[in-house]
Amino acid sequence: MKAIVVTDRAAGLAGMTLTDRAEPTAAINDVIVEIHASGFVPTEMGWPSTWTDRRDIDRTPSVPGHELAGVVSALGYGTTGLSIGQRVFGLADWHRDGTLAESIAMEARNLAPLPGDVAFTVGASLPISGLTAWQGLFQLGRLEAGQTVLAHGAAGAVGTMVTQLAREAGAYVIGTGRAADRQKALDFGAHDFVDLDHDRLEHVGGVDLVFDVIGGDIQKRSAALIRPGGTLVSIVGPVEARPADGRAIDFVVEADRAQLTEIVQRVRDGRLRPNIGTVAPLDDAIAALNPTARRTGKTIIKVR
Ligand SMILES: NC(=O)c1ccc[n+]([C@@H]2O[C@H](COP(=O)([O-])OP(=O)(O)OC[C@H]3O[C@@H](n4cnc5c(N)ncnc54)[C@H](OP(=O)(O)O)[C@@H]3O)[C@@H](O)[C@H]2O)c1
Repeated sequence: MKAIVVTDRAAGLAGMTLTDRAEPTAAINDVIVEIHASGFVPTEMGWPSTWTDRRDIDRTPSVPGHELAGVVSALGYGTTGLSIGQRVFGLADWHRDGTLAESIAMEARNLAPLPGDVAFTVGASLPISGLTAWQGLFQLGRLEAGQTVLAHGAAGAVGTMVTQLAREAGAYVIGTGRAADRQKALDFGAHDFVDLDHDRLEHVGGVDLVFDVIGGDIQKRSAALIRPGGTLVSIVGPVEARPADGRAIDFVVEADRAQLTEIVQRVRDGRLRPNIGTVAPLDDAIAALNPTARRTGKTIIKVR
């Protein structure tokens, strides 16, 4: 099969090559998925799991990409819950070969059914950004209607999901980002927007939940805005600042079939809009994943 692989950590995204790989085989509880569309997070080359396995042993050449939509083509020993020919989407294991390939072997529990009226490109855009937003807001952030959310990077892949889900849940959403992203953030449902380069973040006043996708100084200044009992949720590594009277949580997203099903249902009925930028075939994936211009949404690789 065709796959993108990386071998050289120092080369980053530029080190990707398109090559021929052996077809994957299904282990216990695995399925093989014929990938139709693949999603990619631009920071993947910085994740240890791209380079080493769970024992920290080199696993290169490795196939990056962890989001996919496709069709189940084989079942491993003991696999239940999915069937051959079923449309699926989901989040592939960080430490196994990923989704920038024609096929993947992955655990069935990391996939959910993809309804027939949702395009594969849309399905592949949802798992990481949708699940991260869901888990950060509802599971860890314990968001309640009437609360105020400060959604950093609100025009980005995760930020657009945070904004939409928080607003649907009855929160007042203040998005942040670059000046050029103001309209996009408002279009995705932010009630207000802070241009981090020109506006004073401190002018937003008190908030109940900060969803941080940036870190550093922005995180420290945001922690100071959190009301008593509020929460700082970070997805960019260990928290560097804690609210004076609240909780601080950092986490890495996990696959969850029930949550994926909730997310895709919202896409079907129009409550959640995907944020897709460039769509490119696998043969052009390396150029698409090494853009010269600023990305305007998630890059999706159309494999079939
Ligand atoms: N822990 C987890 O489970 C998890 C899950 C998903 C993502 N992540 C991480 O979360 C981060 C965001 O992911 P993403 O996919 O949403 O990325 P993305 O699509 O690039 O969105 C990030 C947004 O934040 C903006 N931004 C970043 N720094 C900024 C700054 N200093 N001032 C103003 N705007 C700024 C970006 O603008 P520019 O493009 O102009 O910088 C972009 O619009 C990444 O570091 C990713 O690795 C973690």
